[in-house]
Amino acid sequence: MRKKVIAGNWKMNMLPNDTISFIEEFAPLVKDTENEVILCVPYTDLFYALLNVQGTNIKIGAQNIHWEDEGAYTGEISGKMLKSIGVEYVIIGHSERRQYFNETDETVNKKIKKAFESGLKPIVCVGESLEQREAGITDKIITNQVKLALDGLTGEQVKNTIIAYEPIWAIGTGKVATSTDANNSIKAIREEIKSIYGQDVSESVIIQYGGSVKSTSAKELFTTSDIDGGLVGGASLKAEEFSKIVNYNK
Ligand code: 13P
Repeated sequence: MRKKVIAGNWKMNMLPNDTISFIEEFAPLVKDTENEVILCVPYTDLFYALLNVQGTNIKIGAQNIHWEDEGAYTGEISGKMLKSIGVEYVIIGHSERRQYFNETDETVNKKIKKAFESGLKPIVCVGESLEQREAGITDKIITNQVKLALDGLTGEQVKNTIIAYEPIWAIGTGKVATSTDANNSIKAIREEIKSIYGQDVSESVIIQYGGSVKSTSAKELFTTSDIDGGLVGGASLKAEEFSKIVNYNK
């Protein structure tokens, strides 16, 4: 049985004070869950988040890394830097980074490899646009993104990768995918992984759904055969609402 993994992606929101008060309210609400709980916070909140989750079951992630360890890359942060302060996870290839910051399948692949080399666990995002969905090429797009993202990784590394299927048209729009559609897309991703890495890897890899997940839709999505939890944006900014998503099975 795969574990459910529920991660919040705060994107470019929350100041250090907000982070501290969020964790103070959130930690007691999720302390009894058997689900894995991750908060992916802005760089400026990482240190405060790490200090305040000590002694809780909450893990901390960042939202991006560079593919080098150090060097003349003004404004960038490396996996080695994140690891040095205790970060465990990093989101890689979010559609907002692909859309606004020239993230490509190639840079996504380089960053995933560097994440493993740095001792971080990657949460790798893939998803189709509305045009691609309407053209009926969703599965082709997302399986190709997955194949290119994972290129050159070992089966063991793929087992330790979290994939987040996030249809772009569902992000921040309030239009959540139906649980059947999301589950089918995730099944297609699992089949692709099976064809490359075999059944053992494909049945171990955690594949989340993301895109307008709320406490009202979490249970239906997360109780399907293949959806292993969620990557949650807007609804992860409020402690009570996000705790209900984490506790969807209580
Ligand atoms: P929303 O939950 O706000 O739609 O964002 C989803 C997302 O992009 C998480 O990475």
